[in-house]
Amino acid sequence: MTILIDQPDFVEVVEKKVDVEQENELVLDGGFVVPESNAFGHTFRDYDAESDRKDGVENFYRINHINQTYDFVKKMREEYSRLNRVQMSIWECCELLNDVVDESDPDLDEPQIEHLLQTAEAIRKDYPNEDWMHLTALIHDLGKVLLLPSFGELPQWAVVGDTFPVGCAFDESIVHHKHFKESPDYYNPAYNTKYGVYSEGCGLENVMMSWGHDDYMYLVAKENKTTLPSAGLFVIRYHSFYALHRSDAYKYLMNEEDIENLKWLKIFNKYDLYSKSKVRIDVEKVKPYYLSLIEKYFPAKLNW
Ligand SMILES: [Fe+2]
Ligand SMILES: [Fe+2]
Repeated sequence: MTILIDQPDFVEVVEKKVDVEQENELVLDGGFVVPESNAFGHTFRDYDAESDRKDGVENFYRINHINQTYDFVKKMREEYSRLNRVQMSIWECCELLNDVVDESDPDLDEPQIEHLLQTAEAIRKDYPNEDWMHLTALIHDLGKVLLLPSFGELPQWAVVGDTFPVGCAFDESIVHHKHFKESPDYYNPAYNTKYGVYSEGCGLENVMMSWGHDDYMYLVAKENKTTLPSAGLFVIRYHSFYALHRSDAYKYLMNEEDIENLKWLKIFNKYDLYSKSKVRIDVEKVKPYYLSLIEKYFPAKLNW
């Protein structure tokens, strides 16, 4: 059953802003296969590489930084926590995601299901007993369905790319930090101090992150009563929070559980990045294993 609801007004407003900026559209070529590098022949996550994508990626982050305000995130969380759009299984969602290409990702130029299974299978090989990590890897990007019409067809800057806390100062380590100078939150005294609306050690659970596929999939998993351990939910929710897991920023907002969970996120991130090398996966062969994990940790149908 698919329920379509009207797109909220604020999304239309911000989308118009994007149209103006999209004169400089991303160029997505076919890529080529180099195992030790990404599909474009550069080292992974090399935002400064002289590729056709560079301007596109920087422009993407400029629009992202301007629009991902505290108010915007609050509205999106309220809107999407209703989970009244679609009912489907986890595997149905994996198949649905197949046509989505993430324009913000300098490494990836292939259908999402390949990336999901590459990541999951790579972790399974090295951590055979942590079945919750295999499933976490399979589902970590499913929130990218937000790009599809039946999920509100959000613009790319509201779905993909690195995430960061809103409601407190933007850390210098966030990609293309200079563009925050165009964000209204940058000048708001309630939001532009080290702690902003938060307090030391308050726990990331109480911190609002820029809106995107991470937070959406976390909401879906949690509200549908997954039995995944808290580390699995943490990985899903913060896997694009590079300022945290790559640069160790915002540690002063973490509590003890966050510190424990961060260890798993750092492990996960290596696989999330380095499995994007076009290793072919026989989907039909591995499908029964993942279906058994889905059955173990999720209800048959979820509300999205
Ligand atoms: Fe992701
Ligand atoms: Fe990913």
